[in-house]
Amino acid sequence: MREVDRFSLQNTKSTEAMDAVRAHCAAFRAENGRLPRAFVLTFGCQQNVADSEKLSGLAKEMGYELTDDPARAELILVNTCAIREHAEKRALSIVGQYKHLKEENRELVIGVCGCMVAQEHRREQLKKSYPYVDFILGTSVLHRLPELLARKLTEKRRIFNGDEEYAIVEDMPILRNDSYRAWVSIMYGCNNFCSYCIVPYVRGRERSRAPEDVIAEVKDLVERGYKDITLLGQNVNSYGKGEAHGVDFAELLARLDAIEGDFVLRFMTSHPKDATRRLVDVMAAGRHIAHHFHLPLQSGSDRILQRMNRHYDRAAYLSILNYMREKMPDIAVTSDIIVGFPGETDADFEDTLAMLRRVRFDMLYSFIYSPRKGTPAAEMLGQIPKEVSGARFDRLLALQEEIALEKNQPLLGSVQRVLCDGISKDAGMLSGRNGQNKIVFWENDGTPAGEWVNVEIDRVAPFALYGQKIN
Ligand code: SAH
Ligand code: SF4
Ligand code: F3S
Repeated sequence: MREVDRFSLQNTKSTEAMDAVRAHCAAFRAENGRLPRAFVLTFGCQQNVADSEKLSGLAKEMGYELTDDPARAELILVNTCAIREHAEKRALSIVGQYKHLKEENRELVIGVCGCMVAQEHRREQLKKSYPYVDFILGTSVLHRLPELLARKLTEKRRIFNGDEEYAIVEDMPILRNDSYRAWVSIMYGCNNFCSYCIVPYVRGRERSRAPEDVIAEVKDLVERGYKDITLLGQNVNSYGKGEAHGVDFAELLARLDAIEGDFVLRFMTSHPKDATRRLVDVMAAGRHIAHHFHLPLQSGSDRILQRMNRHYDRAAYLSILNYMREKMPDIAVTSDIIVGFPGETDADFEDTLAMLRRVRFDMLYSFIYSPRKGTPAAEMLGQIPKEVSGARFDRLLALQEEIALEKNQPLLGSVQRVLCDGISKDAGMLSGRNGQNKIVFWENDGTPAGEWVNVEIDRVAPFALYGQKIN
């Protein structure tokens, strides 16, 4: 059974609202012979995954038991993403499916959280067209879940005020999904306003946690046996900007690397304009820092990069990339690409393909541009028809597949140190990730999740490596 993180719990304040919900849960138990159940569904990025671990922690603290089955829940929280239209549609469609659950169980409380509800038009839509949704909760006010729930349970009214606080709240209980892999948010929000992106509007301005809080959390995780720790932020290289403590991201990483123990440190995401040589030096000298860099390029055309408000060009990108490869020849570099950004011509797209051939990424996350209400790009002339961006997307994938396979080829016969993730549902084999974040599969020999193994690679594919476990 998963335990709420003791480290964070030490400081958890018991509030009046928390006590009210606890009393409700105790009464429920007296009546039904079991605790009420909470179901938390997560869309979107790791930041949302980390937020959901806090929502789950709070639910458990309040007296709920977590369940994987929405049909058995008394509390459903949907943690939404707004990055592309598809993400919003999926979340809304799932919320729609919960209508019948509410009809079957009048006691069921449904809350919609996350980035989507920070947008006024979505709040209005949920309020009007989804009458069975009881409350919304923004990303910067997760700690107010007990209060909203207490109000909902006592006042029986829907709560849709959409307040955000954008402060940093420490001492949140965290119910982590794994006992060996952990997400640690080091900062929140984003100041970059890339012209296509909704994140700065829904997550607010950049703010960083104090270095001592981050260090204490990581130390505690390592002491409790966590082996794979990922530091999270929309642009981790902005860590500490504007704060009096003067610790920047490179310095924070160096201090975390000094912690004793058997663990790997990862981080995401880095904005190319802020990725520094000092950071690369810290990585190269590090003992625990994975040789993997996720450095979103977005486009290989300088003209489009400018329209995207990215503040770097191809030359600047290549300069930091070359430095990385010089210092760490084994580094895996992965990236994000958007195709079909407004005004993208065939020539711009060819520039992107040319950058792929030149950089040779180990892995790529590619997206078709999705207009986001309220962002500058959504108003730009030259929106690209679906057929055109779809065809470009397919070409991009085909080229990347070729490159990734070629990049994995030299790993044939190598031995990879892998942290086991347990049985992979699709392949029926064990899987895990190596230091460069590549997925490795091997025959199920009973290795439990969270254990390091050595795998000798005997087959490579574009997106995975296969092999046999050796001792
Ligand atoms: N802060 C991170 C990532 C944020 S979102 C960064 O700057 O890299 C993850 C990825 O989604 C982005 O890198 C981008 O490639 C993609 N994305 C963001 N907004 C998008 C949009 N409107 N349409 C399509 N893809 C988008
Ligand atoms: Fe969005 Fe750009 Fe901020 Fe990333 S850096 S979250 S892409 S605005
Ligand atoms: Fe989505 Fe919000 Fe993350 S919009 S990608 S969940 S920051």
